[in-house]
Amino acid sequence: MLQERVPDLAKFVEPDRVRREVYVDPAIFELEMQRIHERYWIYCGHETQVPRPGDYYTVQIGRQPMLMVRGKDRKLHVLYNRCPHRGNMMCGDRHGNTGEFFRCSYHAWTFRHDGALRSIPMMESGYAGTRFGKDNPDCSMKRAARVESYRGFVFASLATNGPGLLEFLGESRIAFDDMCDRAPEGEVEIVPNCFRVIQRSNWKIFLENQLDALHPSVVHQSTGRAAMDVESRIKKQTGQAPLSYHMLSAFAAVTIEKWDGFQTLNYPYGHCILTGYMGLRPKDPDTLAYEKVMQKAYGKKRMEEILGVNIHHVLIYPGLSVQSALQQLRAVRPLGVDRTLTEIWHFRLKGAPEPIYRRSLAYYNLVNSPATLINADDLENFWKCHQGLASDGGDWVTFGRHFGRDLDNGSVVETGPNMGTSEAPMRNQMKAWAKYMQAAA
Ligand code: FES
Ligand SMILES: [Fe+2]
Repeated sequence: MLQERVPDLAKFVEPDRVRREVYVDPAIFELEMQRIHERYWIYCGHETQVPRPGDYYTVQIGRQPMLMVRGKDRKLHVLYNRCPHRGNMMCGDRHGNTGEFFRCSYHAWTFRHDGALRSIPMMESGYAGTRFGKDNPDCSMKRAARVESYRGFVFASLATNGPGLLEFLGESRIAFDDMCDRAPEGEVEIVPNCFRVIQRSNWKIFLENQLDALHPSVVHQSTGRAAMDVESRIKKQTGQAPLSYHMLSAFAAVTIEKWDGFQTLNYPYGHCILTGYMGLRPKDPDTLAYEKVMQKAYGKKRMEEILGVNIHHVLIYPGLSVQSALQQLRAVRPLGVDRTLTEIWHFRLKGAPEPIYRRSLAYYNLVNSPATLINADDLENFWKCHQGLASDGGDWVTFGRHFGRDLDNGSVVETGPNMGTSEAPMRNQMKAWAKYMQAAA
């Protein structure tokens, strides 16, 4: 029926522009949830969020409230957060430990960690001879159709069919490889809490901004300038400003021309890699100490390979933005056509010296957290974009920068030389979007 209300989706997307309804029409939003978020691989969380049996973490996948739980056999399960009896939500807290089993707070049905019904109070007297009971699968908590993890990052798909996780991730896997390889022990550990920000804008506006290499020099200019002033004052006074100032001042120091020197690589499922980064390999004493530990763990050649990976950002469509070199991740959870939750997480490199973690924490607080002006700069534009798109002031959103100059070899669309600020990532995301939306159920 929804399809009837949104009859000709193809007319909404052209190669270099899309209709504004794509961002503001609630019927299109519903279809997106059905056809994209509740069908493809969505990031649930990291294995280290639920280290002990019974640990759970709730997570939203499309419109579905889910929970990720660790079983007694240490296996991870992703279940609908719903009791099969009368529909009560099973876990009201965001996270916790459910003990030996789940127990519904309404009529005390209990369930194993994999969702299977364990017991119903007075089951014999109440249910003998009815169709309800242990053997009826409808009396167990429903599971996500598919759950897979890659290097500790757990994804679920609510559809039984479709590409496997590895095929889906494709080249974007490098986000997790790069992050984990930078740990002397080859693994990362989540810092067990996140910032949660609700943006008054459509989810796609956030994703488009992640690979928008044109905006930082404009939007974050004032924040970068202010940081630059303080940085140079401290330098004058003490000879050396803390490295963290550079995380902010870089926004003013890296010009649009420099951003053009980077490159984006765009993939069929909508994923995108932005290469290049400002000062990923500083020569301060903390970095040198870390390099010693890395060399011991991997040998010089491999260490150079690992630390030589030059990736600024990886976008995994439709809901994950990863900055692997700084161990940051943002998960995008659409709540409504004009409301989007982002969860902002960061990680510890296992086996790395503490100052390297502090650097990740500094970036987390200074660039990605709701406390920083960088985040506020973006949020203001997201809200203003949504306001404009909701108006009758125009029908199209345009993605024409460097259109026609992309290098497309069939499996990847690369931006041409010195075209890092190309709008290729947005074109690619919308091309993937149209494909997802038109795919038969
Ligand atoms: S609703 Fe859960 S036991 Fe009744
Ligand atoms: Fe930004």
